[in-house]
Amino acid sequence: MCGVLEGNARDAVSARSARQAVERAVFAQPLFGPGMWVVDVGCGPGSITLGIGDGHCASTVDFLTADAHALPFGDASVDVVFAHAVFEHLKDPGAALAEFRRVLRPGGSLALSTSDWSRARLRPKTANVDAALRGHYLLCRRAGGDPFAGRSIPAAVTATGFTDVRTKTRYRTDTTYRALATYVEARLVTALETATTPDRDQLASAARSAWSWARSGDGDFAQCWIELLATR
Ligand SMILES: C[S@@+](CC[C@H](N)C(=O)[O-])C[C@H]1O[C@@H](n2cnc3c(N)ncnc32)[C@H](O)[C@@H]1O
Repeated sequence: MCGVLEGNARDAVSARSARQAVERAVFAQPLFGPGMWVVDVGCGPGSITLGIGDGHCASTVDFLTADAHALPFGDASVDVVFAHAVFEHLKDPGAALAEFRRVLRPGGSLALSTSDWSRARLRPKTANVDAALRGHYLLCRRAGGDPFAGRSIPAAVTATGFTDVRTKTRYRTDTTYRALATYVEARLVTALETATTPDRDQLASAARSAWSWARSGDGDFAQCWIELLATR
């Protein structure tokens, strides 16, 4: 079992540390078996990684720093590649998938869980919510990611040469409606402090919308997750 980190991301204590394998990796559980070499790419704080290792496959769990686009493993050396909430952040998802395919043994498995903000459920979805989220998506894209990655991941996996691609859509309440508004507002305000680009006006407008959203009444939020299994 191995968790792959980018930089010192494991030190970043956040809400993500609450993510547990029993819930987040349940779709991949049938893939894990004793003695298997499982790699959790973009493992973040490692809470899911430790859960996968605990009782599913491995007696040891190692963490190492590497880039998803250049994994430090030999060709056909890995049984399962797992990645949760990572493709949303990758600059070149196609290259990363090719790299995952390279390290997987023939017959090995790919298990990805990727969010799709285009299908997130927010009620009420007011004009302020829409405008604030547009600003949020702009920041995601400026960081090189894709907030709608879950939408395109099945086609990308197939195009990379994986077979037996299976997907399931799952909705989760990752955070509350109000907490999401506060998070989006804080992100936009922070980005505005250094914004010198033509995006500045849009970010300022989105920040005002997020401010209003965060001070509106309660609502419901459920994130859309695409859980994908495929075979090398
Ligand atoms: C939203 S976090 C998810 C963390 C963990 N998988 C979870 O669900 O709790 C995204 C993670 O992807 C990592 N990441 C982003 N780009 C990466 C890259 N090119 N190579 C490796 N990891 C990357 C980040 O460092 C971060 O830990």
